[in-house]
Parts: sequence; C-alpha cells; structure tokens
Amino acid sequence: MPMQTVRTHPIDGQKPGTSGLRKKTAVFKRPHYLENYVQSIFDGIGGVEGKTLVVGGDGRFFNDDAIQIILNMAAANDAAKCIVGQRGILSTPAVSHLIRLRRADGGLILSASHNPGGPNADFGLKYNGPNGGPATEAVTDKIFKRTTKIEIYKITASCGVDIDNLGTRNHEGMEVEVVDPVEDYAALMETIFDFDKIRALFASGFSMRFDAMHAVTGPYAHAILERKLGAAKGTVMNGTPSPDFGGGHPDPNPIWAKELMDVMYGAGAPDFGAASDGDGDRNMVVGRGAYVTPSDSLAVLCAKAHLAPGYKDGLAGVARSMPTSRAVDRVAASLGIDCFETPTGWKFFGNLLDAGKVTLCGEESAGTGSDHVREKDGLWAVLLWLNILAETKQSVADLMADLWKAHGRCYYSRHDYEDVDSDKANAMIEALRAKLPSLAGTAIAGLTVETADEFAYDDPVDGSHSAGQGLRIAFEGGARAVFRLSGTGTEGATIRIYLEQLETAADKLHMQPEEALGSVLDAALTVSDLSAKTGRVEPDVIT
Ligand code: G6P
Ligand code: ZN
Repeated sequence: MPMQTVRTHPIDGQKPGTSGLRKKTAVFKRPHYLENYVQSIFDGIGGVEGKTLVVGGDGRFFNDDAIQIILNMAAANDAAKCIVGQRGILSTPAVSHLIRLRRADGGLILSASHNPGGPNADFGLKYNGPNGGPATEAVTDKIFKRTTKIEIYKITASCGVDIDNLGTRNHEGMEVEVVDPVEDYAALMETIFDFDKIRALFASGFSMRFDAMHAVTGPYAHAILERKLGAAKGTVMNGTPSPDFGGGHPDPNPIWAKELMDVMYGAGAPDFGAASDGDGDRNMVVGRGAYVTPSDSLAVLCAKAHLAPGYKDGLAGVARSMPTSRAVDRVAASLGIDCFETPTGWKFFGNLLDAGKVTLCGEESAGTGSDHVREKDGLWAVLLWLNILAETKQSVADLMADLWKAHGRCYYSRHDYEDVDSDKANAMIEALRAKLPSLAGTAIAGLTVETADEFAYDDPVDGSHSAGQGLRIAFEGGARAVFRLSGTGTEGATIRIYLEQLETAADKLHMQPEEALGSVLDAALTVSDLSAKTGRVEPDVIT
C-alpha cells in the first residue's frame, strides 16, 4: 500500500491537559483531528523512525479504529515496531510496564480514564515516554507547539492489521506484535507480592468484591484475583469491558461505584471491597462498612508496605500531590523518610521515582503507585492491601483505627462543582488569588488563617519550575482548604475544593467527616465567595 502525505491545517484546542488530550469522542472523530494529534506527538518527540512503541487502550468506543489509524501512521513514519495489546486492550499501568520491560521508546495510551465512554461521551490519547511514565511538561509543550504549526501528516492507505490474534506480523514494513494484555503485568505483580500468603487468606474464607466497572481491569482481575489467587468466582463484578462501560461512569469513588458501596455497607458484606477506573490506574478501597479515603489509603500503605516482599527493605521516600491530605506526611515523619509534595498529575512523580528518591506515591484522586511502573496502578494497590491484610489479619476498619490512633486523623473531603461557566470559574480563582497575600492572620468564619499561597513546584531532580498549581489556605488548628480548576474535564470548568482537618484527640477520631469538616467548609465558601461568583449553591459531587 502506498504511503500518503496528507496536507492538513492546525486544529485549535489540541493542548494536552493533566493527562493527555481529552475531548468528546465526536471531536476526535472529526476529519484529521486524531491524525493531526498523532503526527504532532511523533514530531514532538523527534520522530519515530526506527523506534518501538507500545499501543493500547481501555477498550472504549473508537479504541479499535483509532489504533488502526495510529498503526498506519506509525508505519508511514517509519517506526520499526508497535507492540499492541490483543484487541487493542491494555490498562494504563500495563502499558507503562510493557514500555519498561521491552525497553520501548514510548507508548500511546487511548483512554479518557474515568470519564464515560461512547459516541456521545469522551475519548483521549496520551503519550508516555521511555521511562514508562506520562510525558513531562517539556515534552507535552513540544507536542502542543506542533499542533499549532502542523501542515502534513503521514499515513499508509492500509485497511487494517489483525490485532485480534496473538503473534507478530508485518504491517507495511513495520512489525506489529500483538501481546496478551494481562500476562506480563500479572507476572510483575507476582514478583512484588506474596501470592501464597494471599492465596491462603482467600482459602481461609476471606471474602472480597472487586468492581471493574465494565472497564479494562475486568480481564486482569479475573486472571489475578480469581484464577491465580483463588478468590471465589463472582469476586469480580462488572468484569467484562464494554465500549461505553455499561453506560456508567467508570470512576471508583463512593458516588460512581455505588453498586459496590451498597454491597460493602449491606447485610452480609464481604471483608474487603475495591474498584478501579476506565483504564485501570485508579483504585478505591473499602472495608466492611468502612470506606477508606485515597489519602488515608496512601498513609496506610506507606506505614505497612514493608509487609510485602517487594518493599521489605522499606521505602526510599514517598510523594503526594499537593491537594492530597497530609496524613502520609505524618507517617513518613515517623518512619524518618522524605515526603515530597508535587503538583496534581502523575507526571510529576516520574523524576522522583527515576531518581530513586521515592518508592511510593499517591493522590487524592484515587491514584496510588510505586516504582514498579511509572503510572498509578489500581490493581497493584488492591494487591498491596491484600498482602497487608494477609500479614496483619486485621480488618480494614481496625487498620484505619490504628493509623488514626498513631498519627491522628486527617479528615478529608473534596467538593466538585462541575460544568461551571469557564469565565466565572476563572474569575473566582483570580479574585481569591489576589486576596491570598493579605489573608495570613485574619479570621474567616471563625478560623484563623495561618498561611495562604499559590502552590508552585521546583522539581528537585531536573530543576524545572511549575507555577500556578492551586491555591492553598492553611488555618490554625490543622485545617486546610485548597482550590484548583480540574485539568481533565471536557466541558466548561470544574472547580475542586479540597478540605482537610487534622484531629489528634482520642475522642475525636471517629466522627462523621462532614461534621469534622464543617468549619473549614464554611471558611472555604466564605473566602472564595463561590456561590455569588458562580451562581452555584451545592457541589455536584462530594467524595
Ligand atoms: C488524572 C491524572 C492524575 C490527576 C488527576 C487530576 O487522573 O492522571 O494524576 O490527579 O487527573 O485530575 P483533575 O481533574 O483534578 O485535574
Ligand atoms: Zn485512569
């Protein structure tokens, strides 16, 4: 088939957000839209001639067609090889692992993560570099610059390559190797965790439900939890990936994983529950009647990771994104290890992991991971929890109670105001930013401001500076409110308010979070004047 050079024009709005380019599926399907962006990635990374790329996605609507386009473009741009998940399926952590395992030059992940999928929902494309992690801002800037200048893209006129069957084939002079999406990933998990111990836990009657939310982790969870570890059949719910995630919203939090929450808070609840998102990098953990916030989960994992063989020598350090609660800071301090505070977005952990400064990292947005790959990893987090539960023989609720007793409890909640008019959201943030320098020492709704600033990050490894990473106000008495605009939405603006209150008094460790966070919520709404500035009275989602 002949290679074609197609003339094109720059398309507005192809700026990657927190995690790659995310748009409505219909936008991605517009003429030249995907092609322009793929060519801009190729050009932005200095071309793909002679390179090996890993390609796979979460199976959402348009995944398979987009992969064929990418393979045709990779061949036309003289890539040496593409390693593709069978039927186009690869979870995000599995892509990260394959890039590292095969020493590939990078990878393309087709996913809009936890956003819904389907013809009327969302699609996304993300480039990961040779370390297996999301491209750094320096690289995404280059890619974005190309999108504003692009004049041509290269593509072969082939009508498709077989990605349904395993094996290696020639595609227009480029090698395409179709691999089992689960095998290498499962083998990696077996090197980190004590599978025998976890198997014995299940054999002793321990019960679990894992909600794959009709998304990519279904096949991974069936293979690892049910087949390798002997969890009862039916442990995995919603385990068959579907292009529109069963019409659901594959975001593992108490709102969208309600089906699992109902099981875990109902009569006869199993010992342990967990869920993962569209592309398998997020996780939610819930014990019998005991939801664990992602920030607390990170703290527990930090405290107990040494119980798993992969971390038996302890942790080099830990990192959390700025809005994530400071619970893990307290555990790290007690262990005498460093705790880094980074901007939101997994890409900021990459340098710290590569430099061996941290072993574990996590975010309030339900992401936890370690140096085994360069993405957050949903099933890995679930397996680490299982390994810890198998070693301690404690319930999730007891592990949490122990954590709070030892380190105090960081009550935590995030309030999201979605699809807010962008101008109004920006105006609210700007007004608050302008106020910050004068806030210290003032009283707001009964709380006294200790510090107020806009978070900026100086990467300790490459010295890069990232400004404008969220507004944070700390109050006397251990409360904190953080404000930022989401970088992953596809419509309007989403305002996120992150609320935190530290409690160390023994009689205040088991309150309802809304009760513990009442004062800081009042202060946050007062200082931001959110209702008047946006016209919104209630948040759309509280997690
Ligand atoms: C993606 C990134 C995460 C990040 C999250 C924040 O999931 O992979 O690292 O925490 O987006 O999203 P937001 O919508 O708050 O920008
Ligand atoms: Zn995700």
